Amino acid sequence: MFLRFTFLLSLASFISAQDSSLNEVVRAFTTANIPTNLNIRFNPTSLLQVDFPQSASRPVAIHAGIQLPRNQTAGPPLFSADQITSRGPFVIAAVDPDAPTPQAPTASQIRHFLGGNFFIKDDGVLANNTPAVSNYLQPTPPAGSPAHRYIFLLYNQPSTFNQQTIITPSSPIQSFNISQFAISVGLGNPIAGTFMLVAPPS
Ligand SMILES: *[C@@H]1O[C@H](CO)[C@@H](O)[C@H](O)[C@H]1NC(C)=O
Ligand SMILES: *[C@@H]1O[C@H](CO)[C@@H](O)[C@H](O)[C@H]1NC(C)=O
Repeated sequence: MFLRFTFLLSLASFISAQDSSLNEVVRAFTTANIPTNLNIRFNPTSLLQVDFPQSASRPVAIHAGIQLPRNQTAGPPLFSADQITSRGPFVIAAVDPDAPTPQAPTASQIRHFLGGNFFIKDDGVLANNTPAVSNYLQPTPPAGSPAHRYIFLLYNQPSTFNQQTIITPSSPIQSFNISQFAISVGLGNPIAGTFMLVAPPS
């Protein structure tokens, strides 16, 4: 009985565990072809933690490559960071490169979040008090599609970021290109990232 309980408990904590190793995050990104598909150089120096609040239970933490049922991804997610030296500000972006399907991603990337002015607090939480450029949008992979990848990236924020007008709250969210945007506004390479998979509800 005790053993069984311990097993379930450790399985549960494993399932909702956050990323703890930069190497494992890099391996998961590479295995999922993300650096190639996003045209990014992914050499993270920090860990980005993404937690989804739940109405009837504790928040669900993602780790790179986890698949979540869509109904756990309503969000908006909470962000925190580990192994980070700067206090901020930071930019966070989330994109879906698999829309409408991974086989024919003609609408990709879909921008699921873009926000700046995140600062790290003593407990590691990334907090901001300015409106996002693009508010968080829950994954909605269409029926019949395989799971999509939803990729969260953390960047150092350049001093000119709040003046950029390349992407505004009224810009279309489809046909976004995070690496092009990063070049255009001077974000450099992402310093941390993680991703989840979400399939259409069955
Ligand atoms: C989410 O969906 C699954 C399967 O569709 C269901 O079993 C589960 O109860 C749902 N959870 C919530 C929190 O709605
Ligand atoms: C996105 O931008 C990068 C950098 O400019 C470019 O290399 C890549 O081809 C672009 N991707 C698409 C799908 O246009």
